[in-house]
Amino acid sequence: MKTYAIAAIPGDGIGPEVVDAGVEVLEAVAKRDGGFGLRVDRFDWGGEYYKKHGRMMPENGRDLIRKHDAILFGSAGHPDIPDHITLWGLRLAICQPFDQYANVRPTRVLPGITSPLRAVDGPELDWVIVRENSEGEYAGVGGRVHQGSPLEAATDVAMFTRAGVERIMRFAFGLARSRSRKFLTVVTKSNAQRHAMVMWDEIATQIAAEFPDVTWDKMLVDAMTMRMVMRPQTLDTIVATNLHADILSDLAAVLAGSLGIAPTANLNPERAFPSMFEPIHGSAFDIMGKGIANPIGTFWSSVMMLEHFGEQAAAARLMRAIEKVTGDRRLHTPDLGGTARTADVTAAVIDAIHGANV
Ligand code: IPM
Ligand code: MG
Repeated sequence: MKTYAIAAIPGDGIGPEVVDAGVEVLEAVAKRDGGFGLRVDRFDWGGEYYKKHGRMMPENGRDLIRKHDAILFGSAGHPDIPDHITLWGLRLAICQPFDQYANVRPTRVLPGITSPLRAVDGPELDWVIVRENSEGEYAGVGGRVHQGSPLEAATDVAMFTRAGVERIMRFAFGLARSRSRKFLTVVTKSNAQRHAMVMWDEIATQIAAEFPDVTWDKMLVDAMTMRMVMRPQTLDTIVATNLHADILSDLAAVLAGSLGIAPTANLNPERAFPSMFEPIHGSAFDIMGKGIANPIGTFWSSVMMLEHFGEQAAAARLMRAIEKVTGDRRLHTPDLGGTARTADVTAAVIDAIHGANV
């Protein structure tokens, strides 16, 4: 029997609460499926670790998780530590060296969840955003000089490589092909950014030729926000740069009902390194320790992990269990307007996993 090794990195804020819930649910689904096992190793990296050791993770941190089959991540972010330190010291310190270049963010209105869009009642909004996750505006190229003087200057260079753009386009066209509508929207800003975004568009056209069965269109990112709100049914698979997709995916999550539900996979499609799965909501310090964090984002991310393992039956079972639970409004956490607690939602999903009809 295959046993998958999972590195759990709860991180900060509500991260530990939702990762604990995620591990419970994953263990329940493995037990119910019976065809595979899980070994979960926990790494207490993040803000508290930083306060003790002056870094977010140990120097050999990546070596400790390199051999795992996947990473389950909670969140990085701490009220006492600047965000760019927590981010670059942990999350990007894993994503970038492990070459998790395809960030995949499915968005759907789950049963029982209300979209803020009047005309959306479920099927009108079913998207997957593919975010370039290794370069672009997050390349980390730039600098700051003359600090403290009136001549102070700073740059953040958005760096795009042909190899980086080709591989994310190929990934996105491939994903679009695997979905029933076979339709991709390429988000750009080549009207204003006349170098990298023009190359981005050219490469999209080139890669499109490899996928004659996929229809695609191109959308400027500003106009894209309008289309997401006004004509959500005209979208399916979406590919965008690191920063554009960061912004669009928050919009997508909230249009689907709550940031608390939205999942992410940071994939290294070649499987040279482990891929990382995480809810997109962040550390949410305002509700930390209250037991009311919505664990659904972590559960849905766990579905993506099981799919990545090739455990399709278990993944589908967990997704059905999630949808059964969201369908019952008594099990909604406060972000969804309810009064349920993390533990109630977790127990209900585990019940549903063991239930005969799920
Ligand atoms: C996300 C988050 C991160 C990002 C933050 C925490 C830096 O917003 O995963 O979307 O911008 O990548
Ligand atoms: Mg974001």
